[in-house]
Amino acid sequence: MLIIAPLGLQGKTDPTMNITPRPREISLEKGSFNIKGAGFNHAGSFEGRTVDAIAELADDISAATGKTCSVAGAAGVDRNTDAAILKGVFFLTDSSMEPENYKIVITKKGMKITAPDHNGFYYAIQTLRQMLPVGNYKAVASTGSWSLPCGTFSDGPRFPYRGMHMDPCRHFWSVEETKRYIDVMAMYKLNRLHWHLTDDQGWRVEIKRYPGLTEVGAFRKGTMIGRNFQSSDGRRYGGYYTQDQIREIVDYAWTRGITIIPEVDLPGHMVAALATYPWLGCTGGPYDVWTIWGVSKDVLCAGKESTFVFLEEVMDEICELFPSKYIHIGGDECPKDRWEKCPDCQALIKEMGFTTDGKGTKEQKLQNYVTFRMQDYLAEKGRKIIGWDEILEGEPSPGATVMSWRGAGGGIDAANRGFDVIMTPNDYMYFDYYQAKDGEGEPLGIGGFVPLDKVYGFDPCEGISPDMQKHILGVQANLWTEYIATPSHLEYMLLPRMLALAEVQWCSEGNRDYGRFTADLKAHQERILDLLGYNYRK
Ligand code: ACM
Ligand code: ZN
Repeated sequence: MLIIAPLGLQGKTDPTMNITPRPREISLEKGSFNIKGAGFNHAGSFEGRTVDAIAELADDISAATGKTCSVAGAAGVDRNTDAAILKGVFFLTDSSMEPENYKIVITKKGMKITAPDHNGFYYAIQTLRQMLPVGNYKAVASTGSWSLPCGTFSDGPRFPYRGMHMDPCRHFWSVEETKRYIDVMAMYKLNRLHWHLTDDQGWRVEIKRYPGLTEVGAFRKGTMIGRNFQSSDGRRYGGYYTQDQIREIVDYAWTRGITIIPEVDLPGHMVAALATYPWLGCTGGPYDVWTIWGVSKDVLCAGKESTFVFLEEVMDEICELFPSKYIHIGGDECPKDRWEKCPDCQALIKEMGFTTDGKGTKEQKLQNYVTFRMQDYLAEKGRKIIGWDEILEGEPSPGATVMSWRGAGGGIDAANRGFDVIMTPNDYMYFDYYQAKDGEGEPLGIGGFVPLDKVYGFDPCEGISPDMQKHILGVQANLWTEYIATPSHLEYMLLPRMLALAEVQWCSEGNRDYGRFTADLKAHQERILDLLGYNYRK
């Protein structure tokens, strides 16, 4: 960060100090502007959600200060208007700026905020909220100064894809809990929620064409206890989101600048669907929704056309529910044991002429075929696929985006081969892993060790040739919930690591400094996260 002459601030705490993720450039001047009771104005072509976010900020400041900030459209003012003559707070569209960027110019009389899109304005608002007394987050009366320092803030993200993943399959999270997760993502400028909606232990999205998926597939007979794979607590467990709830959550996220990317994990991790419709499997079952963790040998039968009819009809409804350009089709951990023995799968392999060669086994090529077909089908609907890095095995299809989870190696290789990549390497970005060595003093977890400094130190473009770095769309952390059953444990695993993730996603390498970050973090924990009641690891 560049700070030029913080003249007006001597003897005062600098409110720009702890902004996370760190803005690209701040240059401060003498003087300040008091936002208490200021008039808020907006001019330009705004989306409704942007106007709502502006009004919400004004209302929250009004409630926290006891002085009303009015909100109105502003005639005769545009992005070229000199900030020095503006009295009050002005939001002005500037479509010449880079996506999601914003600029705030503060003078003694007022403030001019320019951005090209909703997210840019939304992020300017988040930056302002972090500088103001913490009561603005909850509209509660708050001590502290409502003055903002004069100067210019120019900011924007390093990566366009800034994701966090959520797993409601192993343990289910209510609509309200999901919204709290989205809230904290939005505060720190993340813009993608990867929602893992189907797995062996539960199917979580209502599909009208296949009601059994949520009548049967959303519930399991019990859950293994601790690490004992032979055990079960014997308690029926489950839940799902109705299509109305899905739309509510998609809209909630969208107003906060977050696109939800749904995942239907296929052709493995499908036991919940097999338990509902055994004809989807190679052996015909019967199958039960899984009560233990791990990787099942029972997967979708790729040799039966009825499987593809099912998948396409599921995707029809998924695409209606989720406007996201990307649909995640999973692809991870699909053992080939059943396919090797299944007459239908082997007949299709023969018909297609798949052979085992240096590129992969004939069953891997059958998985490539499944991936191609889903990619083609979704492309007809104008969508693109994301798949876990297993989709690179065999003969991967051009145009797929790869989510690199088994370390960064798959992603490095994929980017160098020209695939778009989202980096989610387990050794840096698996937030289900412990935050202390050997899990010492931590609640029982899946294992691993991903402390805060490890997350912070991840370099997403390391090992990728400079001309191929454009294929790194961004970074995401994954939070699988096999061993996480309560909202407070979920938040404990998410925070504070998600703030480190936010800087990896947002800040240039030169703007990252772990010492500065941890000092900022203390302020965030003690002010914002405590006020909002988030649980985090101290
Ligand atoms: C994964 O963790 N199986 C993608
Ligand atoms: Zn089969």
